[in-house]
Amino acid sequence: MSEEPAAELARLAAEIAAHARAYHTDDAPTISDAEYDALVRRNAELEAAHPELVRADSPSRSVGAAPAAGFGKVLHARPMLSLDNAFSDAEVAEFVARVRRFLRFADDTPLALTAEPKIDGLSLSLTYRDRQLVTAATRGDGTTGEDVTANVATIADIPQRLPDGAPGLIEVRGEVYMAKADFLALNGAQAAAGQRTFANPRNAAAGSLRQLDPAVTAARPLRFLAHGWGEADALPADTQAGVMAAFAAWGFPVSDRLRVCDRLDAALAVYRGIEADRAHLPFDIDGVVYKVDRLDLQARLGQVARSPRWALAHKFPAERATTTLIAIDIQVGRTGQLTPVARLEPVGVGGVIVTNATLHNEDEIARKDVRVGDTVELQRAGDVIPQILRAVPGDAPRGEPYEFPTVCPACGSLAVREAGEVARRCTGGLICPAQQVERLRHFVGRRAFDIEGLGAERIELFTAEGLIATPADIFRLKDHREALIARKGFDAPSVDKLLAAIEARRTIALDRFLFALGIRHVGEVVARDLARAFGTYDAFAERVAAAQALPVEPALGESDDRARTRRAAALAQVFAVGGVGPEIAAAIADFFAEAHNRDLVADLLGEIAVEPFAVATRASAVTGKTVVFTGTLESMSRDEARAQAERLGARVAASVSAKTDLVVAGPGAGSKATKAAALGIDVIDEAAWAAIVAAVG
Ligand code: IVH
Repeated sequence: MSEEPAAELARLAAEIAAHARAYHTDDAPTISDAEYDALVRRNAELEAAHPELVRADSPSRSVGAAPAAGFGKVLHARPMLSLDNAFSDAEVAEFVARVRRFLRFADDTPLALTAEPKIDGLSLSLTYRDRQLVTAATRGDGTTGEDVTANVATIADIPQRLPDGAPGLIEVRGEVYMAKADFLALNGAQAAAGQRTFANPRNAAAGSLRQLDPAVTAARPLRFLAHGWGEADALPADTQAGVMAAFAAWGFPVSDRLRVCDRLDAALAVYRGIEADRAHLPFDIDGVVYKVDRLDLQARLGQVARSPRWALAHKFPAERATTTLIAIDIQVGRTGQLTPVARLEPVGVGGVIVTNATLHNEDEIARKDVRVGDTVELQRAGDVIPQILRAVPGDAPRGEPYEFPTVCPACGSLAVREAGEVARRCTGGLICPAQQVERLRHFVGRRAFDIEGLGAERIELFTAEGLIATPADIFRLKDHREALIARKGFDAPSVDKLLAAIEARRTIALDRFLFALGIRHVGEVVARDLARAFGTYDAFAERVAAAQALPVEPALGESDDRARTRRAAALAQVFAVGGVGPEIAAAIADFFAEAHNRDLVADLLGEIAVEPFAVATRASAVTGKTVVFTGTLESMSRDEARAQAERLGARVAASVSAKTDLVVAGPGAGSKATKAAALGIDVIDEAAWAAIVAAVG
């Protein structure tokens, strides 16, 4: 049975967010890159087919995760984006067609693409002011990265100064990596010295760059390759290839395999050439990146939330291996979700030793009929836990089919699966120790209360010792100062530092607060939507109370499913917040319907103050307004017009209503323009729209 698109999108949003958190924030990935990509792609496909179902917390709207503590933070002047992926020639062809459509290019209008290797390293942004390197930052969550300037000063490939003639301000971006030979030598030396070895060159590069002591970085053989830029007050050329040539002249290493291709076949031929040489290249690559060569076209194409429309990563197929499935363990997450993890006989796949793999959920295990003792085929494309593809048939007798537990392995409560859900969840709520710890971890996490020095380990320790059980308890830890100091591994300065970090969070922004509560489906984006809509916690709480007061009588003969759907739709109307659909509204109502959650929030509010939400708006003539485009647009596609409007902070609607502020009408505009005129709404032409866009720059 196939899932409903809305339910599948909800599941994907939750799954992808969890995997992204595991990968970026916790450095403990749970699935392979290929598998992660597959989830992201499925999400994108569904969104393309059902644009009306795109969720406020959709993974297509965010990149990476927040920076780690310990480093200073750098706000990127322009966001550091990620790349859309393709896995087949057909998908590359579709990319080119999409670009052409967006630009309204005829089939015979030339469109040059660059093609170059996609290096498997970590992205770095280098800001030069007056031709002097002033800041180096990692990508972080795309908006804020880690300040690694001191470490980068030790990388020989990176020029400290740019020659005369280079612009006064330019941010050069590229990849930090470790050559394969250097990685092997480093691991050999580490092993000989009894120190940790790295799983692969990318891990080694990341671990070497993100060192709090620059002397350690200096001793590691890090390399750099430039592939792009961020903000700049001038660029040395008007094509991608031209800028790369200038970067090379300034002393940056750039790829010697970069080619400009006039046709799709030529770009695909570069891909095959690079794929054939992959094993002989001095560093790991995981695909080929295509970019629209002309910079004026790149500017027109702009970006979707997470990646530029003018670039594409064409990935190489994943690597595979077979091994024995030793056991299936069940992990319990923050929302009580039971996740099966495969324990494997260690096996090397693409240079990495693999011992765990995800099995997703019970349907997946049943569909693949994977049993303990089976020989299984697995695949990985990065340094993360891989994916089990199938059980390999053999002669040996097999074990019993796997039976998914119906009680929580952490607390023994019933684990149930609701209609339409793939996940089985523990019903123990806060009495479940696994959920309690996960919720507290989430609560103190960087994107929630961000309490420095209170990591997962300490949360587990303090919970196990009964020092904390709820979020409010964290703010009462100060009453246990002496007991904390007496503990092994702690002393007065470290305890005082922790307590000071906790005190520093006694006031918190509304959006972070709502996110921190860990309400199902309320990710950062939804939390921000709610905060923006309600402004204060009291206003939000009032609406929750109104939602709670909603009568939920099932109609005579109505199925549970139908009643649930009807209730959710009614709740969404009570909330009336863009981005908060029925499922999210129901999750919020369910959360506050539980007495222990209400108590937990009330207790917490006794300890802290929630600040009202403040918005920073970038003013344009149409910020906050609702715009409708109608008729034929001549210089741009509808998509481009929509993207421009969104960049200026406007909302784009499909039809004219009393809520419309502005109509942009091209030739052939019919009833919409007439209706707008009748409603007294401003109607402007495409040239006037272009002027509004140009005014902001
Ligand atoms: S262009 C908007 N070119 O891949 C981002 N990226 O998966 C433009 N990467 O974050 C990036 N090699 O760090 C580009 N030749 C290359 C690359 C490359 C590796 C990394 C980059 C990016 C990531 C996206």
